[in-house]
Amino acid sequence: MAAFPQLVFSGVQPTGNFHLGNYLGALVKFVEMQASYDCIYCVVDLHAITVPQDPAELTKHTREVTAAFLASGIDARKNIVFNQSQVSGHAELAWVFNCVSRLGWLNRMTQFKEKAGKDRENASVGLYAYPNLMAADILVYRATHVPVGEDQKQHLELTRDIAQKFNVDFAESIASHGHGEAFFPLPEPIIQGPATRVMSLRDGSKKMSKSDPSDYSRINLSDDADQIAQKFRKAKTDPDALPSETAGLAGRPEADNLVGIFAALRGSTKDAVLKDFGGQNFSGFKAALVELAVEKLGPVGAEMKRLQADHAYIDGVLRDGAARAREIASKNMTSVKDILGFVR
Ligand code: TRP
Repeated sequence: MAAFPQLVFSGVQPTGNFHLGNYLGALVKFVEMQASYDCIYCVVDLHAITVPQDPAELTKHTREVTAAFLASGIDARKNIVFNQSQVSGHAELAWVFNCVSRLGWLNRMTQFKEKAGKDRENASVGLYAYPNLMAADILVYRATHVPVGEDQKQHLELTRDIAQKFNVDFAESIASHGHGEAFFPLPEPIIQGPATRVMSLRDGSKKMSKSDPSDYSRINLSDDADQIAQKFRKAKTDPDALPSETAGLAGRPEADNLVGIFAALRGSTKDAVLKDFGGQNFSGFKAALVELAVEKLGPVGAEMKRLQADHAYIDGVLRDGAARAREIASKNMTSVKDILGFVR
């Protein structure tokens, strides 16, 4: 296939309680990727309304996630940071993809099954079509690389299927409009690092989640040093000492999680962490973990709070990002319309 210029796109839902799992699983990676790629980072408010939202909360959470992006070190001048609803190309291309994607494909999506639960008849059509919108988010920029969590892998595969089907179905028109063999790239997921899945501090078999009723299950980016210390001290562990190699973490989900968090915060690997802490008991390790977490997360949380309070600034960043995103998206939508045969 023709080579497409490398471009990173990723999206984060504007839900409250931004936590360590979101930070290590997404933002750290986003920040890192800026060094080697042009990046577009989007707060996906259109995805958020696939389930009921309180409008005032949605506004607040959109600013909260944007503040988290900036506080983590995403450069909104070099790259693009915006909220999805400000660029109409997402919704427009999503409609086209509703007509490319197949019912059979969407029926296989495990996230829909989980989110819709037993009351599937009452789920919104938007929740069902959510993966088509996600494909549109990525492909309206013809992005080639997508940093995502493990749980989004299936949606990325669907995105590739949609891109591929569009390229094949409209091959002749794509070629005759001067786009060569393929209009859309087949984007690659980027899933790596020691903490792509941060687990609950109370139960190492469950993902850290904003909706867990126990606040002790997660570290929020807004937690202060005392809260961080208390939560790690109370975090579930097992009675054994830490192993000196990663193989020794097998069957010890809580130990594995804490070592993974340590490695991710320090920007190293589990093996390197275990070289330092192997053979030690948890109390010493937890003290070191608290110190590291406070050092790394404290400034991010403080900056996030400061930015979040400045609505004019945050909204300005989003507006400016949206204007630059719109330029790319509308150019690609013009091509899509030509390819489809829409008169313009
Ligand atoms: N579905 C993603 C999630 O819940 C969020 C998302 C929406 C996204 N559009 C995207 C991620 C495009 C990557 C690329 O995490």
